[in-house]
Amino acid sequence: MSTLVIKDLHVEIEGKQILKGVNLSINTSEIHAIMGPNGTGKSTLASAIMGHPKYEVTQGTIELDGEDVLAMEVDERARAGLFLAMQYPSEISGVTNADFMRSAMNARREEGNEVSLMKFIRELDSKMETLAMDQDMAQRYLNEGFSGGEKKRNEILQMMMIKPTFAVLDEIDSGLDIDALKVVSEGINQMKGENFGCLIITHYQRLLNYITPDHVHVMMQGRVVKSGGPELAHKLEAEGYDWIKAELGIEDETVGQEA
Ligand SMILES: Nc1ncnc2c1ncn2[C@@H]1O[C@H](COP(=O)(O)OP(=O)(O)O)[C@@H](O)[C@H]1O
Ligand SMILES: [Mg+2]
Repeated sequence: MSTLVIKDLHVEIEGKQILKGVNLSINTSEIHAIMGPNGTGKSTLASAIMGHPKYEVTQGTIELDGEDVLAMEVDERARAGLFLAMQYPSEISGVTNADFMRSAMNARREEGNEVSLMKFIRELDSKMETLAMDQDMAQRYLNEGFSGGEKKRNEILQMMMIKPTFAVLDEIDSGLDIDALKVVSEGINQMKGENFGCLIITHYQRLLNYITPDHVHVMMQGRVVKSGGPELAHKLEAEGYDWIKAELGIEDETVGQEA
């Protein structure tokens, strides 16, 4: 079993404090969901886990099986088994989708133990079929000209090929129609298992109709303010977030507001 442990995480962007003490612990075989309105720091948490240079950690720790993640460069984090599906994936011209995925897979393997081209293609074909993606998308430049929904499917395809130990999926459901939502959920559910843990960030409950999280957390004002089981997501869908704000005695849940 692997564990990703985030303790008292404080993060600043350009001198502005965004995260103010996030605590979260995820084991492999678990699916966690972080929910919360816009502007509460969810994407900042994802970027800090992956090591985006703009996000400065001023306090707290992130450890993967006891190893200091904050001391690792972005590529080292990827090789250590972390994966981020971004809310707004970048377009990279000149690199085909297939080449990108094969390099990323091989970067996690020992030299001389690279995945064979045949095996790679067979696996890619079958995963693309699961995600109902056009085969020609493999040979297109990474995300270039992809529609919003294609980018999201492609992030999940990368995850399924790279097989990270922990995946952080930031708003993977936004902009997806119901069919796309189903195939993306199917891809995530296929990954479930003892060697995989997942943090799903979303502000809608609807994705969680297809993926049952083991733990649900609510983020407000740059902190995890409430945690529970799948029933918490259902309560949020039925009642919204106001009752949590009332419990906390706050009016504005976004960051930048002092608690
Ligand atoms: N790159 C950035 N530069 C400046 N401010 C940022 C940046 N990213 C996020 N913020 C600010 O941090 C706050 C939280 O944003 P974010 O983490 O994206 O929230 P969420 O994902 O919950 O909507 C917002 O006030 C946002 O304006
Ligand atoms: Mg966000």
